Amino acid sequence: MSTPMEITLQNPPDPDISDQNAVASASASAPSPPPPPPPLPPVLADDRVSVSVEACLKPSSTARIDDVRSAIERMLEKRSLSYIDGPIPVPLDDPFLTENVERIRICDTDEWVQNHEILLFWQVKPVVHVFQLSEEGPCEDLSGDGQLPSFNEWMLPAKEFDGMWESLIYESGLKQRLLRYAASALLFTEKGIDPFLVSWNRIILLHGPPGTGKTSLCKALAQKLSIRFNSRYTQSQLVEVNAHSLFSKWFSESGKLVAKLFQKIQEMVEEENNLVFVLIDEVESLAAARKAALSGSEPSDSIRVVNALLTQMDKLKSSPNVIILTTSNITTAIDIAFVDRADIKAYVGPPTLQARYEILRSCLQELVKKGILSNFQDCDHLVIPNFASMKEKLSMPEMQEAQTKFHLCKQLLEAAEACEGMSGRSLRKLPFLTHAALSNPYNCDPSKFLCKMVDTARGELSELPD
Ligand SMILES: Nc1ncnc2c1ncn2[C@@H]1O[C@H](COP(=O)(O)OP(=O)(O)OP(=O)(O)O)[C@@H](O)[C@H]1O
Ligand SMILES: [Mg+2]
Repeated sequence: MSTPMEITLQNPPDPDISDQNAVASASASAPSPPPPPPPLPPVLADDRVSVSVEACLKPSSTARIDDVRSAIERMLEKRSLSYIDGPIPVPLDDPFLTENVERIRICDTDEWVQNHEILLFWQVKPVVHVFQLSEEGPCEDLSGDGQLPSFNEWMLPAKEFDGMWESLIYESGLKQRLLRYAASALLFTEKGIDPFLVSWNRIILLHGPPGTGKTSLCKALAQKLSIRFNSRYTQSQLVEVNAHSLFSKWFSESGKLVAKLFQKIQEMVEEENNLVFVLIDEVESLAAARKAALSGSEPSDSIRVVNALLTQMDKLKSSPNVIILTTSNITTAIDIAFVDRADIKAYVGPPTLQARYEILRSCLQELVKKGILSNFQDCDHLVIPNFASMKEKLSMPEMQEAQTKFHLCKQLLEAAEACEGMSGRSLRKLPFLTHAALSNPYNCDPSKFLCKMVDTARGELSELPD
């Protein structure tokens, strides 16, 4: 049997390599000095970083996406702005853009900048993505057994998921990693890379403790990708499979439900300009069903349902325009056939101190913006510094004394510290619980609110099971 060491390459030599060899061997045999190297081809030095600029069209707009994109590109060329994540105003002197565009936002620059650096316009190559939100809402499948719908379906990008991506805060670069993974997977498929030579698939598994944003992240990722890839895929859909409903008490129906569901997905996928996301939440329920069936405590039909699901997923995998998103609450090794199929398995953990600070900061800013918390007397609107600048500024004693804002930062940091062990879900609920616990909930100032928040957090944590 041949070992890898014995393999000889049978392929014809690469013309570029053989040319180089020819030059090398010619120069080796010639006694005269080597000829001067050939002139380099003109290369456009473009080491600018690509930064996504997302533009959301007004619901009433009927403008062509290409026209809006060109108009925004022209606008960006004219402006000498620095690029940091966040909204940029729609120029009022451009009637076409003001009529059609609701908002423009720069995204994902944080990948390129550290500390307080900013990207200047000449360092950036803006990549403009224009989209219009679908206001249709979910379309449920109610044809099951009269219990839970077996799936929900959304046209993407959906109004419901607008802002979800930005609201999810992870310190570890998780969101960027997922975005890049999905972009590479779609590109490999698009380029027709031979899966026997380079293997990859389009199944993502997010696992971690409850309330860490796994389901939200899946939906937000689908939304983001539908926007980023809309010039290739003119339509995107998200199908959320309700795994529990597939195990209805009438098991004989379950097989039919799976078949029906996947037939529908297959139809969506056949349209090659459609990008389809299939979300299977809480896959451990499938594993549980399998185990129970094997131990004989469940009808053997359930194992057939799981197997049908796995087979259908394998079939789907060959379609280039599908991404399967799965979540699980089981944090330890999940050794089911289902999970083995996932290419990217990302652990989504409870928020770190920085993430907790940022989550609470976003809550506080929303409460001030909507008038629940009264504002500073000396300030028109409250802008609490982010974690990095807070840390830096708190280390400067003169800053601490000079401004109320930094007192607030410190309190916010204390609140974030007090929330250690809380999930993102509990953190997002905490401001509400704090407000409900106030003796005078009207015109409460942010500082008093934060004091109360620390107490509320301690109370909540003391009620958590060990
Ligand atoms: N890291 C985070 N940053 C911001 N918000 C978060 C974060 N983690 C969770 N949340 C918020 O918590 C809520 C619940 O999230 P979600 O239902 O997606 O969690 P999950 O991990 O799927 O939970 P479960 O395991 O119970 O299904 C969402 O509203 C989400 O915005
Ligand atoms: Mg979930």
